[in-house]
Amino acid sequence: MTTAGSVSGRERLRLFCALRLPDEIGGAVVGWQRAHLRDGRIVPPEHLHLTLAFLGSRPLGDVASIARELRAAAASAGRICFEPVRYRETRSVGMLVLDDEDGASGALARDLHERLRRLGVYEPEKRPWLPHITVLRFKRAPRLAPPLPDLGRFSPSDAALYHSVLRSTGAQYEALETAALGG
Ligand code: 2AM
Repeated sequence: MTTAGSVSGRERLRLFCALRLPDEIGGAVVGWQRAHLRDGRIVPPEHLHLTLAFLGSRPLGDVASIARELRAAAASAGRICFEPVRYRETRSVGMLVLDDEDGASGALARDLHERLRRLGVYEPEKRPWLPHITVLRFKRAPRLAPPLPDLGRFSPSDAALYHSVLRSTGAQYEALETAALGG
């Protein structure tokens, strides 16, 4: 699906690729956030995702080729199975770190990074990709130690190419294209 109307007139877009959560998993994360997180801005349900690759600002003309590579990488992915293993805080966010059973999401991330690098739109990060869901944003780390949410093992619903629009109220994400996962 392409929402060309919503991006027409813009020359560059802030883009990222991400795995999306099934509705019931997103709902369970929301309940857990409300019960256990504080002293920061809770990431709203429509913003919960696992970033595969952050591309930054790209010309509008790159969208079709990036979406093509995302679809190809997603289609050839093995079955992805996640489980939360720890809550971690950086200087600005709190996240749920996920165990990636069989490493299928890591393999997808590496495949996508290499495809996007060949396309000339992405420089892979030096540190290994870490499957995580950002759940809280803050100015000062609240140093929380919440229990892990009981999500069981779950698979992402699909992958998407997102357009991130920076507003005074914060970023808003819009899925420009979605990609079905293999496996
Ligand atoms: P995150 O997945 O760790 O939260 C959209 O901004 C997404 O791209 C965010 O979810 C964010 O990380 C990820 N991202 C990675 N590098 C980024 C950067 N330099 N600036 C903004 N977002 C970045």
